[in-house]
Amino acid sequence: MQKEETGMNLDCEKLILKAFQGRKNAYAPYSGFKVGAAVLTQGGNIYTGCNIENASYGASNCAERTAIFKAVSEGHKTLYAIAIVGAEDKYTYPCGICRQVISEFASPHMKIILAKNEKEYIVKTLDEIFPGAFTKKNLL
Ligand code: THU
Repeated sequence: MQKEETGMNLDCEKLILKAFQGRKNAYAPYSGFKVGAAVLTQGGNIYTGCNIENASYGASNCAERTAIFKAVSEGHKTLYAIAIVGAEDKYTYPCGICRQVISEFASPHMKIILAKNEKEYIVKTLDEIFPGAFTKKNLL
């Protein structure tokens, strides 16, 4: 996908490969389910993430949030795209909490790339997978 509404060049394959790089560091000894994510920020920075589990299961963090929190903590608060890789035989969608976190930092036309590999992927908008989101607008 090239130059689109955002004015950004979105190279889905590159972002997916970055997500796979992130997944290499997944720490998932309890579920055995390794996930990787890569976010593309305004300005073209890419941050990768993996899921990080904990013996106290509730303290675990998803790959998407790891990547997003890395980006935001480095000062990049506007996200143009995120690629997510989990299982190789089916698409791994972000969990509800991650959809909420994505919605906080999403640019208007943000793309959610769900990939089995760098050739097999689908691209969704946030509105498709998270309609009726609760956002800062609801607080005004
Ligand atoms: N997980 C993610 O990292 N991202 C998702 O979108 C779905 C779930 C992780 C959380 C946990 O470490 C493991 O996958 C099994 O739920």
